[in-house]
Amino acid sequence: MQIEIKREKKRDFEEVDMLLQVAFENKSIAQMVQQLREKDAFIPELARVARINNQIIGVIHYSHIQIIKGKKITSSISMAPLAVLPAYQNLGIAAELIRNSFAKAREKGYKSVIVMGHEEYYPRFGFKLASGFNIVCPYDVPNENFMALELFPDTLANANGKVKYDPLFSDLPSYTI
Ligand SMILES: CC(C)(COP(=O)(O)OP(=O)(O)OC[C@H]1O[C@@H](n2cnc3c(N)ncnc32)[C@H](O)[C@@H]1OP(=O)(O)O)[C@@H](O)C(=O)NCCC(=O)NCCS
Repeated sequence: MQIEIKREKKRDFEEVDMLLQVAFENKSIAQMVQQLREKDAFIPELARVARINNQIIGVIHYSHIQIIKGKKITSSISMAPLAVLPAYQNLGIAAELIRNSFAKAREKGYKSVIVMGHEEYYPRFGFKLASGFNIVCPYDVPNENFMALELFPDTLANANGKVKYDPLFSDLPSYTI
């Protein structure tokens, strides 16, 4: 099975939106992504789609966030949403999307990644508890589901503070894989 991972293009939007509706079993995430793509927070260069036989079967998106404490602002990126079509789940496609996009993020000089997600899934990629870096989630998310990863050593060493997401994220149910 040949998986191809490429940057999301405008012509992919419709297929990606359908994928998000199927993977999340509702329209809210797809609608959020449609709006997010129009915002400065969205990072098009890190939006990746996975294809098998020319069909988009997985997608990953990122947006800019800030970690704020008083006047100190540390820039970071948020990984969300991540989705794979049900028929293609548990084949490592999400893992490939994560690794591929991390390589691109490092190439582009992004320093760290924050995620809200399942505590048993994300640590395998190097995510640790965000609370260990004294990074606080603005939403009501359990401690173990709020994680952070340094793309380069010690880039979160002084980043303690509260994360500020684009307001679009506040309307959504919390993410858990
Ligand atoms: C979460 C998701 C992206 C994973 O995609 P995937 O391609 O199946 O992931 P991978 O094949 O890389 O990894 C599968 C692993 O994730 C685990 N996993 C999947 N869903 C899980 C869940 N809800 N809770 C805990 N673990 C889960 C599997 O058990 C498997 O673990 P293993 O490798 O130890 O056997 C996919 O299940 C999905 O699209 N779900 C619906 C949308 C969603 O919840 N997205 C995440 C939040 S934005």
